[in-house]
Amino acid sequence: MEVSSQSEKSTSSCPYNKCDGSGMFLIDDDNAKICQCQHDKIIDRKLEFANIPKEFQALTIKSFEIDIYTRPDSKTIATIAKKVAANFVKNFEEFQDEGKGLYMYSTEAGSGKTRMAISIGNALIKVKRVQVKYTKTVDLLNEITDTFNSNSEMSQKELIDSIRKVEVLILDDVGVENPTPWVKSTFYSILDSRMDNKKVTIFTSNLSLDELKHDRRLKSRIERMATPVKFPEESIRNNLARQENERLQRLLLE
Ligand SMILES: Nc1ncnc2c1ncn2[C@@H]1O[C@H](COP(=O)(O)OP(=O)(O)OP(=O)(O)O)[C@@H](O)[C@H]1O
Ligand SMILES: [Mg+2]
Ligand SMILES: [Zn+2]
Repeated sequence: MEVSSQSEKSTSSCPYNKCDGSGMFLIDDDNAKICQCQHDKIIDRKLEFANIPKEFQALTIKSFEIDIYTRPDSKTIATIAKKVAANFVKNFEEFQDEGKGLYMYSTEAGSGKTRMAISIGNALIKVKRVQVKYTKTVDLLNEITDTFNSNSEMSQKELIDSIRKVEVLILDDVGVENPTPWVKSTFYSILDSRMDNKKVTIFTSNLSLDELKHDRRLKSRIERMATPVKFPEESIRNNLARQENERLQRLLLE
């Protein structure tokens, strides 16, 4: 009875059946080793902290498709973007030393920018064990505004400080925010501090750096903090929707 309850305990708490659920196991009388389940837990906590939606946590750079783009020029641009992303992760330590991130942009919506930014975030967490935070720019600004509510968990200063300090920040959809004086100064103070402290920021945008509706001071910070990466001017979102419609139409006509 006791034996079976013990083995039940170990199967339910350690998915590898290696430790007793404590995250450590003995290799001999004097030495213990950290179990893989403990490493997994650290990664899970990092993924949770990163705010990456569950359904996107498995996205990889490798599974970023090139053939899904139909035009030859799109395929060329997507191939370069994919290579840049892979090399960025591979050589991350050097980019981190320089505090350099990426600025992924295309005018066309649905071309794969968010998909790639999240894949890079996942890889940095899983391979490089880095602390990452993903947020849409507008959501972040709203969150900061919400700290004025009396029932808010964090003060505005605490939230802004945490965003300033996070090792890798993914700011999705930069440029859609309405650049009010408050937005400008908040954004500026976050990026200025991240630049000074050489923190890596990955931006995605529907605007090139030149087209961003922010003033020169802010733009020049982004320019120094990130290398531009062009994305194809082709919507995979539309391609996927078209394929799905065609599939359903075939079902209706068969
Ligand atoms: N290369 C790709 N391989 C596989 N799926 C892709 C690829 N590019 C985009 N997708 C899929 O297409 C959809 C749109 O992509 P995504 O949201 O990344 O585009 P976006 O460039 O961020 O668009 P927006 O400018 O509207 O923010 C998503 O469902 C995404 O998973
Ligand atoms: Mg996007
Ligand atoms: Zn274990």
